[in-house]
Amino acid sequence: MPEDTRILIVDDEKKILETFSLLLEDLGYYVKTASSPDDALSLITKDTFNIVFIDQFLGPIKGLDLMQQMSEINPELYYVVITANGSTDLAVESLKKGASDFITKPFFVADLIKSIDYVSKKRELDKQKKKVLLTLETKVNERTEELEKIHLDVLSSLAQAIEKRDLGTYGHCKRVSRYCDMISSVIALENKERHYLNIAATLHDIGKIGISDFILGKPVSLTYKELHDIRSHPVKGVEILKPLKYLEPALPAILHHHENYDGSGYPYGLAGENIPLLARIIAVADTYDAILSDRPYRSAANHDEAINELIRYSGKQFDPDIVSAFVSSFPDAMGQKDFLAYSF
Ligand SMILES: [Fe+2]
Repeated sequence: MPEDTRILIVDDEKKILETFSLLLEDLGYYVKTASSPDDALSLITKDTFNIVFIDQFLGPIKGLDLMQQMSEINPELYYVVITANGSTDLAVESLKKGASDFITKPFFVADLIKSIDYVSKKRELDKQKKKVLLTLETKVNERTEELEKIHLDVLSSLAQAIEKRDLGTYGHCKRVSRYCDMISSVIALENKERHYLNIAATLHDIGKIGISDFILGKPVSLTYKELHDIRSHPVKGVEILKPLKYLEPALPAILHHHENYDGSGYPYGLAGENIPLLARIIAVADTYDAILSDRPYRSAANHDEAINELIRYSGKQFDPDIVSAFVSSFPDAMGQKDFLAYSF
């Protein structure tokens, strides 16, 4: 349809520009002309075009080179190269460099119309192709998201099953996720990071699947070997989750959630900001929940005691900024009693 075909003719022969723009306008096309490369470049930034007829010999610059400059500004443009030299080499070169068609001088209005029809059909086909590809891409993304959700649900159930073996920790991962979310809000963590923090918080102890019930439930001091075993859970967790590519951004948080800010933690003794931010967040949330829970070797503390403990180890075990973000995330009006009644 001529109405939605917007044409730019670039040629240094003013007579050609005048003649053909008038003829095409009479036929109902929107037509603008440019007699120099600079005019052409300026026009495509100010106006909308679909098809550009471009003369190969424009004085200071070749039409094909101008075509590339124009494509950088507007990749949606379609080109027809006009040349006085009808050689096959130039035709092939034009098409290779992205032109959709070419015509040779002298040409008539019928040649232009034929070319416009051809390029318009090509545009329409490309549009349909893009639409189909977009629909396919959307479907693939939706399906991938569904599969990822199923995976995460299964892993989350597995994490909960592990909590049942690890006495006193049932619901721990869910609570840690909520505490992480509270910290995320205070430090204004980006949504993508929050997403991976949530996954890491849910799965941070999944490596405990490889640790015996005896060690997990042991009420007295652990031997060196038992301690070594229990401290292997971040690495084991990452080994379990590594094959799932979409979880990759969450793995550093799982691997380093027991690192200490002063470098005294495990598995690698990282310190300060060398510890991934998400791992520093989980460390605070994880410890807070652990202090509030009954364990085989001690009974649960209350909110104030847990907060005091976090503050005491701020800058040593924990990132001080994360501790203060966590502390400030509890509403002032909410007392300890109310907080504990809050259904975490
Ligand atoms: Fe852990």
